[in-house]
Amino acid sequence: MRAIFKILRLPGDGVGPEVLDEACSVLSEVGARKDVQFEFTDGLIGGAAIDACGSPLSDEDLVKARDSDAVFLGAVGGPKWDHFSKETRPEAGLLKLRKELGLFANLRPVKIFDALAGASPLKDEIVRGADLMVVRELTGGLYFGQPSKRMKDETGRSAVDTLPYHESEIERIVDLAFRLAGQRRKKVTSVDKANVLNSSQLWREVASEVSERYPDIEFEHALVDSCAMALISRPTTFDVMVMENLFGDVLSDEAAVLAGSLGMLPSASLNGKPPAREGTQAEMFGMYEPVHGSAPDIAGQGKANPVGAILSASMMLRFSFGLDALADTVDNAVANVLEQGVRTGDIAGPDMAPASTSEFGSAVREQAAALAAAR
Ligand SMILES: NC(=O)c1ccc[n+]([C@@H]2O[C@H](COP(=O)([O-])OP(=O)(O)OC[C@H]3O[C@@H](n4cnc5c(N)ncnc54)[C@H](O)[C@@H]3O)[C@@H](O)[C@H]2O)c1
Repeated sequence: MRAIFKILRLPGDGVGPEVLDEACSVLSEVGARKDVQFEFTDGLIGGAAIDACGSPLSDEDLVKARDSDAVFLGAVGGPKWDHFSKETRPEAGLLKLRKELGLFANLRPVKIFDALAGASPLKDEIVRGADLMVVRELTGGLYFGQPSKRMKDETGRSAVDTLPYHESEIERIVDLAFRLAGQRRKKVTSVDKANVLNSSQLWREVASEVSERYPDIEFEHALVDSCAMALISRPTTFDVMVMENLFGDVLSDEAAVLAGSLGMLPSASLNGKPPAREGTQAEMFGMYEPVHGSAPDIAGQGKANPVGAILSASMMLRFSFGLDALADTVDNAVANVLEQGVRTGDIAGPDMAPASTSEFGSAVREQAAALAAAR
């Protein structure tokens, strides 16, 4: 019987629709070859939604998201909406989606393709072979803790933010990190600031307790400051790195630099556990999106790199649908196309003619079809 997966597509703004188109056609290509059907429904988010209905995410599209097996998002934002208030800006649509769907885990893999090791700002010998995943807690910590406010009295201005975590919030994200590590190179680094912060001491305690359930996975604690240095001096020594919201925000951006272009990076935001093994149903919902923004400087010019979106589609296959073999096909297709020297402008060398977004997408589609047929 043909398996059907329902995907809500939210292309958003700028290059979002361009890269999502390419990624969706890669999905359709690999699905058709393995008797899997992806049923796409379209919705609006960000500036596109503001222009159409006055809100960055309508309740109707939120219902569509809940009715889907996964959400696939392009990017939101752009200069046209920069003067909007915090609550009505395009980004508010993304925050609403994360909050309403309870997406507490943000996964950002950074894999350096051999063909692109030279494109990194780091030396080839440091970055070659790096393949890590930052797992960031997304719904707790400093960004949501109360009190969070500014004050003023006769002595002057002051401000406070609060970093609260309950052990259950730490347990679920660290447990997820161990499950992910089990499918990768079997190492977890838990990042904290336990030499100073109470919240980090609790984080360290709970992370150690969770680690006892996974004796076959190597486990280490790291202080966030020294970890920030290690990430760029010895990135190949990391596999899965798990941390609270603020630390994750900072270190995931630092890790992104390793890849040489923002256009290369995928992400997933999950609200539960991915499938325990290939072919089993996910116990969670996921939203998938490239890490980059709407890139207004190159939007509409066919210059956007679709790799981040295509690899986000591969994460969807793996984490939401349990289709690991198809995900591997997509990952390998991207690697092969890069090996062949097909590059969009952001990663092309000085002597290379850059491929357009759709030329790159077609090359991946053809490769994926060839790999799927050969299986
Ligand atoms: N998740 C999101 O939707 C998201 C994330 C970040 C920024 N934004 C929004 O996007 C808008 C632009 O923000 P920004 O310029 O700071 O970040 P950006 O990621 O859009 O662009 C930063 C730089 O990277 C380049 N770039 C980005 N994606 C690329 C791709 N796929 N291929 C090739 N080059 C690419 C851009 O051309 C630009 O030079 C803002 O409105 C911002 O708020 C949205």
